[in-house]
Amino acid sequence: MKKAFIFDLDGVIVDTAKFHYLAWRNLGKQFSYDFTEEENEQFKGVSRVRSLELLLEMANYSATQDEKNQWLSQKNEEYLSYINKMDESEILPDIPRVLDYLWSKNQGVALGSASKNARPILKRLNLLNKFQAIVDGNDVTAAKPDPQVFTKGATALETSYEHCIVFEDSIAGIQAANSAGMISIGIGEASVLHEADYVFSDFTEISNNFLDQLMA
Ligand code: BG6
Ligand code: MG
Repeated sequence: MKKAFIFDLDGVIVDTAKFHYLAWRNLGKQFSYDFTEEENEQFKGVSRVRSLELLLEMANYSATQDEKNQWLSQKNEEYLSYINKMDESEILPDIPRVLDYLWSKNQGVALGSASKNARPILKRLNLLNKFQAIVDGNDVTAAKPDPQVFTKGATALETSYEHCIVFEDSIAGIQAANSAGMISIGIGEASVLHEADYVFSDFTEISNNFLDQLMA
């Protein structure tokens, strides 16, 4: 049966989560805030604008709109400086195998990412042509945990929500998939992603057999 497999990008296909964290941490230092890796879990899957709001709330710092705009572009510039050094070797283990297997089984494959940098990143990784639909931060009006980024992918692939399977590393993304009635697969730690239907540490743990079961 044809299903739609929707992949998040950051932290699922490539480990850009560490670059987002570095850039936010360095920004936080400007207002003397020590942003921890644990706090960063709340930022995963969350839009750039909302992430800055969260950081300012944590630091108890009230910024003007001009400051906010300047910090948003500063954060993105630092993030892009890391991204621009990336190549195919940074694709996370077994992602190519899983993508190729899904294509060989004639399944729908889409990207559902909050990032406005998703397309250039996929291009750098030579993965653009592996996705039949790409929905990213430029295409949505509501961010995860709102399911819009995934429901738009389902619509593009003409697949009903219950036949969609979402791979996500963020709490907000798992909640988004669950609220759309999609199967949610967490990539990361089970203690963090406990709301997911299944959790794996990475794609090396996801066998072709398991993918067959999801297609059945
Ligand atoms: C998500 C990341 O995929 O995209 C978040 O998990 C990030 O950390 C968000 O803030 C927006 O990304 P960008 O590239 O548009 O700043
Ligand atoms: Mg992610």
